[in-house]
Amino acid sequence: MPGKVRFGVCLDESLLKRFDAEIGKKGYNNRSKAIGDLIRNWLIEESWKVEEKRGVGVISLLYDHDTRTTLDALIDLQHSYTNMVVASTHVHLDAHTCLEVVIVRGKISVIKKLADHFAPIRGVKQVKLTLTTEQVERA
Ligand code: NI
Repeated sequence: MPGKVRFGVCLDESLLKRFDAEIGKKGYNNRSKAIGDLIRNWLIEESWKVEEKRGVGVISLLYDHDTRTTLDALIDLQHSYTNMVVASTHVHLDAHTCLEVVIVRGKISVIKKLADHFAPIRGVKQVKLTLTTEQVERA
């Protein structure tokens, strides 16, 4: 396997049993892929601590359709970050509830600031930010 390194890991037997049970439930059929995914995820999460780094954010907004000012406020805010907003989509969940998903890319610190600015908008019930990286190493 070019570019791959085999290494030994010493773990408590009970910890390894729990790990194997968990990755089995998730559908992994070998430890290497599971451990690689955990390490990659950890490295990506560590990179968010360097707030000058760039990344991608998925901001999910749950809001009240009946509050007439909400949509305008959400759109106005996105228009003030047009250099970062890549896409947005809107789903009418039921007669009174809307879901807006906004995908942004840019500096992590600015993505967090933008996500924070959604929450105080009248009618917004929940804001969730999921961060990920723009680039992963080629496997
Ligand atoms: Ni709607």
